[in-house]
Amino acid sequence: MNGNNIYIEDDGKPMLHSGSFPEKNAENKSITLIFSPQIEGVGTLAEALKLFKEFNVNLLHIESRSSVRIPNHYEFYVECASGGDINGAVEVLKKTMAYVSVVSTEADGGKSDQYIPWFPQRIRDLDKYANKILSYGSELKSDHPGFTDEVYRTRRKYFADIAFHYRHDDPLPRIEYTPAEIKTWGTVFKELVKLYPTHACKEYNHVFPLLIENCGFREDNIPQLQDISNFLKDSTGFTLRPVAGLLSSRDFLAGLAFRVFHSTQYIRHHSRPLYTPEPDVCHELLGHVPLFADPEFAQFSQEIGLASLGAPDDYVKKLATCYWFTVEFGLCRQNGNIKAYGAGLLSSFGELEYCLSEKPQLKPFDPEVTGNQEYPITQYQPLYFVAESFEDVKYKMIQFSKTIPRKFGVRYDPYTQSVQILDSKLQIQDLVKNINSELQILCFTLSKII
Ligand SMILES: [Fe+2]
Repeated sequence: MNGNNIYIEDDGKPMLHSGSFPEKNAENKSITLIFSPQIEGVGTLAEALKLFKEFNVNLLHIESRSSVRIPNHYEFYVECASGGDINGAVEVLKKTMAYVSVVSTEADGGKSDQYIPWFPQRIRDLDKYANKILSYGSELKSDHPGFTDEVYRTRRKYFADIAFHYRHDDPLPRIEYTPAEIKTWGTVFKELVKLYPTHACKEYNHVFPLLIENCGFREDNIPQLQDISNFLKDSTGFTLRPVAGLLSSRDFLAGLAFRVFHSTQYIRHHSRPLYTPEPDVCHELLGHVPLFADPEFAQFSQEIGLASLGAPDDYVKKLATCYWFTVEFGLCRQNGNIKAYGAGLLSSFGELEYCLSEKPQLKPFDPEVTGNQEYPITQYQPLYFVAESFEDVKYKMIQFSKTIPRKFGVRYDPYTQSVQILDSKLQIQDLVKNINSELQILCFTLSKII
């Protein structure tokens, strides 16, 4: 089991490295179905549900909606628990219903070719896996700087508990950070801001003053997640939610599909302000947050998330590796120079200097190559991938996501904050109509401007 973030020490300057790794949740063996009856009328759902009883299948969740695939029909979204003859029930549904789609199936524990991992379809579904963490945030290893510090451990548990009980749409708890915690933040902040003008990409340097102005980014203040989340929501629709520990890659990436970033809220141990063995508030806020306010970067991050939904494990691993070499350790070319945009670099004084030196190897970003690249997690990266621009990296990720074997397309609907499963002509026709009306607005506006 891999950790989400690893910090390393080098040249006496400890550094942060972040990333995530695929882990399959073996406990989740449900099937999620969408189906539409042939005939509409009162009691059609009740009739359909009798079938599940007949096949001894327990239902975890049922929703009825107006169908987006068959005009004037209803469709039912059903999550079935493992057990009973699920396959038998599905076979009968396929013979008797106007439309049946198996959205996810883990009934065989993920062994068959039919395996499609469960994935969240609505933003509130993120609550379902928020506490399926690989390790609780208050569990420290024996070599952790705060391992023998009871006060620090109690504090870590406090933060982990906040995140554990957090639910979608709750306000993000405001933290009264201690003077020692603020001092630690200040040490990191002071070192990093010296390097940003010369080492960070232009998009980072464009947003950073706005965070100082709007969110209290200062040496003597640890910004509050709620303020940052509000700022990001206004900028790109991204929001933050606290996380109680390490999430699997699949779950972490799924959050990005909804423009949700899982963020820690605690800070590293004060005894070693330039070192931490896991992500902390310095890494999240100084490394990740600024670029989530950039529209192109936000869209790129969401593309990785959308590509991961229902993707096979080996593809999630490739996506997580691309995430590592972009969102965490990405470099990009700007005006003939190379700049850093990865959060592991922008929150890491030593590696930010190192990554732009002559020492590391550089290669152009290419998801087919990058996604298969091995990397160390306990030292500076020997190799970085360089993007031509955020637009370029986004385009390449979209092209790569087309290679993922998935029977349906996915699209995020910001109005309903849900992921649409695209598998019918009617849906595509509706989308084309929407694009067409938006194009008309654009053309009309353009004619006024010119
Ligand atoms: Fe990170």
